[in-house]
Amino acid sequence: MRKTVIAGNWKMNMTPSAARTFIKELAPMVAGKDKCDIVLCVPYVDIAAATEAAKGTNIKIGAENVHFKASGAYTGEISAEMLVETGVEYVVIGHSERRQYFGETDQTVNLRTLAALNAGLKAIVCVGETLEQRELGYTETLLKYQTKIALTNVTAEQMKNVIIAYEPVWAIGTGVTATADQADEGNGYVRAAVAEMFGDAIAAETTVQYGGSMNDKNAAELLAKENVDGGLIGGASMVTEKFTAIVDAAN
Ligand code: PGA
Repeated sequence: MRKTVIAGNWKMNMTPSAARTFIKELAPMVAGKDKCDIVLCVPYVDIAAATEAAKGTNIKIGAENVHFKASGAYTGEISAEMLVETGVEYVVIGHSERRQYFGETDQTVNLRTLAALNAGLKAIVCVGETLEQRELGYTETLLKYQTKIALTNVTAEQMKNVIIAYEPVWAIGTGVTATADQADEGNGYVRAAVAEMFGDAIAAETTVQYGGSMNDKNAAELLAKENVDGGLIGGASMVTEKFTAIVDAAN
């Protein structure tokens, strides 16, 4: 059956020394809680400290973005090959903040996903509707469209390294969480899109996370839903007690 994955997304927070301290504190709190994979996606400059601090623990480290070209004149960008050499195993792709502030499109999400998968990384691909799109009744159409474009040219074999995070834009960093039923429904649309592309068996094996104000209080109810296979967690992933409580809920 599909894996439950609890992943933190630190965004533009935490210096390398803060990352080291945090992971040293978190590691004994989540030790042995292996019914889910535990991942922290961190700023590029934190990766060295984070991978070092996580060595020998059950915490895996991810990046928050990757460029789609292998190399070249792209000042400030980081390639998949560079990430692999740092020791990260995961990378977040297409987060709504990148779509909103940094010109990310469904097409570039697809290119980044392919670059990450071809380099052997696990891709956490984010999709989600805005409040306006939800109110207009486009949630299902949009989630399926975003999912299908993101996964274009991905092979069935590569799907085992794909995680999709359903993150309703209106629930990110707002304190407004989707209800467990809304999360289950959104994740179900994503899974249906995967089934339409790759068939039911692969869809049943694909981890679909929920993200958007998941915390220690609401995680158990969200994770109890059939289609919710973990979480992508911002704010609560930077508080050891809260993140541990979410890991506990998944266990
Ligand atoms: P949040 O962020 O948990 O702070 O809402 C989630 C995310 O952006 O992945």
